[in-house]
Amino acid sequence: MSHIWPIYCKINHRDPWRKGVKNRMIIYDEKQHIFQLNTKSTSYMIGITPEGYLGHIYYGERLQHIDGGYLLRTEEYPYTPERNKREKCVFLESFPMELPSGGIGDFRESCLDIRDEYGCLGTEILYKEHRIYSGKTSLEGLPASFVTASQMDTEDAGTAVQTLELICQDRVLGVEVVLSYTAFEREDVITRSVRVHNRGEQTLTIEKIYSACLDMDYEEDYELLTLPGAWARERRIQRRRIGYGRQSAASIRGESGHQEHPFIALVTPGTTQTQGDVYAMHFVYSGNFLGQVEVSQHDMIRMTMGIHSYEFGWKLTPGQSFQAPEVVLTYSSEGLGKMTRSLHDFYREHLIRSRYKNTERPILINNWEATYFDFTTEKLLDIAQTAKDCGIELFVMDDGWFGRRNNDESSLGDWYVNEAKLTGGLKYLVDSINKIGLKFGIWFEPEMISPDSDLFRAHPDWMIQIPGREPALSRAQGVLDLSNPEVEEYAYESVARILRSAPIMYVKWDMNRQLSDLGSAYLSKEHGRELLHRYVLAVYRMQERLITEFPDLLLENCSGGGGRFDPGMLYYSPQIWCSDDTDAVERLGIQEGTALIYPLSTIGAHVSVCPNHTVGRVTPFKTRGIIAMAGTFGYELDVTKIPEEDRDMIASQVETYKKYCPLIQSGDYYRIASYQNNHYFDCYEIVSKDKKEAIFVFVQVIAQPNMHSIRVKLKGLDNEAKYKINGTVYDADALMNGGFIIKRPWGDFQAELFHIEKIND
Ligand code: GLA
Repeated sequence: MSHIWPIYCKINHRDPWRKGVKNRMIIYDEKQHIFQLNTKSTSYMIGITPEGYLGHIYYGERLQHIDGGYLLRTEEYPYTPERNKREKCVFLESFPMELPSGGIGDFRESCLDIRDEYGCLGTEILYKEHRIYSGKTSLEGLPASFVTASQMDTEDAGTAVQTLELICQDRVLGVEVVLSYTAFEREDVITRSVRVHNRGEQTLTIEKIYSACLDMDYEEDYELLTLPGAWARERRIQRRRIGYGRQSAASIRGESGHQEHPFIALVTPGTTQTQGDVYAMHFVYSGNFLGQVEVSQHDMIRMTMGIHSYEFGWKLTPGQSFQAPEVVLTYSSEGLGKMTRSLHDFYREHLIRSRYKNTERPILINNWEATYFDFTTEKLLDIAQTAKDCGIELFVMDDGWFGRRNNDESSLGDWYVNEAKLTGGLKYLVDSINKIGLKFGIWFEPEMISPDSDLFRAHPDWMIQIPGREPALSRAQGVLDLSNPEVEEYAYESVARILRSAPIMYVKWDMNRQLSDLGSAYLSKEHGRELLHRYVLAVYRMQERLITEFPDLLLENCSGGGGRFDPGMLYYSPQIWCSDDTDAVERLGIQEGTALIYPLSTIGAHVSVCPNHTVGRVTPFKTRGIIAMAGTFGYELDVTKIPEEDRDMIASQVETYKKYCPLIQSGDYYRIASYQNNHYFDCYEIVSKDKKEAIFVFVQVIAQPNMHSIRVKLKGLDNEAKYKINGTVYDADALMNGGFIIKRPWGDFQAELFHIEKIND
């Protein structure tokens, strides 16, 4: 896809407000030395001091004028170094930096640490020049947001995308550092990234490079919102008050991980879905990360996001450059709901590329929870036939079809079909499934190696490990050293070869362990600390190749459930398996946390059997179906074995999902009530962009002995309109302010899906 190109355009600095919409997003005020980036409802301001320090002035509600230079306080104590050399450290410790660098006197968290060839760590970047242009350039080798040619061509007001590049330099090191900011007008998003070029004569080592920083006054008792979790318990919303010192969310696991998420938000106390200030940072990267807030002695907050510096070090020889990944920033003055909808729109429009992103995804059935490793061609065909009769469209064969993989002890790396299990071979199976009328999908875990595999016996040095130390296994497996191009090629070809052998339309790309014992037989000592980042780059390269070679492939990422559910992976796959926990009640929390920042069209959600295989809970089949509809719907069960009344429900569930699929994929998401907070019931709503229809889901998780019904206040409807729900007509303002009455269902785990239709249009 050639969707990214720089267009250099002149900005009318003197009279920005009289120019067309597209020209007034990024402004440079030459008198005040201020840049202002505007989106529909936010402004971001950067100032340059006389020495060239880039200071952060403002991020918040949209400003109508560009007049904020005084906010940098350069006239006050401790004065800028130009006027007061003696107190440079005090200046550095209190100045709000756009990209603070380390080793020179700012003892807060730095974003850029470069070591010179003498072994000294010290970096100071000063402004040199800037560029402003329409559109956005791509980031080499990395997933990143984009703007397509047709998005740029549109005459719609309010859809402009412009980029500011601030080119800085450290004359002592001989490096040029480019800070890139792109403002997406309609989505109220600003993306940031950083590029370092070694333009000097010495070999340098980047010891730390974060992609974004927000230095603000600590004037509110901010809370930090993060999304911690665990396997089968991903992305639970957590809020805590921050105080002096550093508090963070991080991964040093080689992937973004189940345990923390590359997302942090600062929210003012009492922030709800509709009220409060929210500053959010989300990292478009799938490896180690650190998202941190630090409250300093001078009552400043420094919020940063980037690649974790743990086991990171990147050699830059003269002429080389390094591109740090992108951070997505958004600000909302209208609470979390507005942030959610900005991010949903942004990811749908500017990050997900798949041709499937706006098309109805096939309803799939996956055999993992149905058979685990114990299946045959016959068994799979049996499931497929019954699934077809129920209206299911895609059959996915999960783990266990290759090598001697009859349990999780062996064979990762041996990606040839186990014909003892799959009698007749893969092509026969795929053809037979196609004949039944289903498409075919397959599971891979290409980044892994089992010590008990032919691959390991042939290439023990292809596994990541430290010489002389027995590497820790996890699920009996190790990780391939993808920094080695030969290994990358092998891993890619393992997948591609199978896809070339039969008509396979879907791949589930799994990754079931995190990285430890970080040693590479391929990388030299000087490059050892590049392993983790090189690993992530190789995964990106392989997935890019895959979707290029197989443009019709529907790719779903997965990592022991949702352990690598991040914006980086979304650039390659439009959907990601959200969690191995398919219990309907657990899914409410997992999907609430995931949908806080990701569109529902990305969230893999399936109906499975009861008692649930992870928690043993028994919930009604209807409830499981309704809850799985807030995602990419499917089934994960042996459809031949479930009770008949459940099986009979599948056809109507499929029909309901298909009916509402366009709305679920593209609508505005509103969180109305949270079982995680009230311990009683859950409620969320999806409203079409034109507000002509909506659905909302109510789940009574725990029955309570209340004597009256429940009122839920709907959101996002056209205030002037009337809407029909279950045959009754209501005024939108009554539904939104007074609420809709739901008769309490009888018993636990009861779900209902309501359709709302506008009638006076
Ligand atoms: C991971 C995935 C599951 C399944 C198994 C197979 O745990 O999340 O969905 O594919 O691997 O081993």
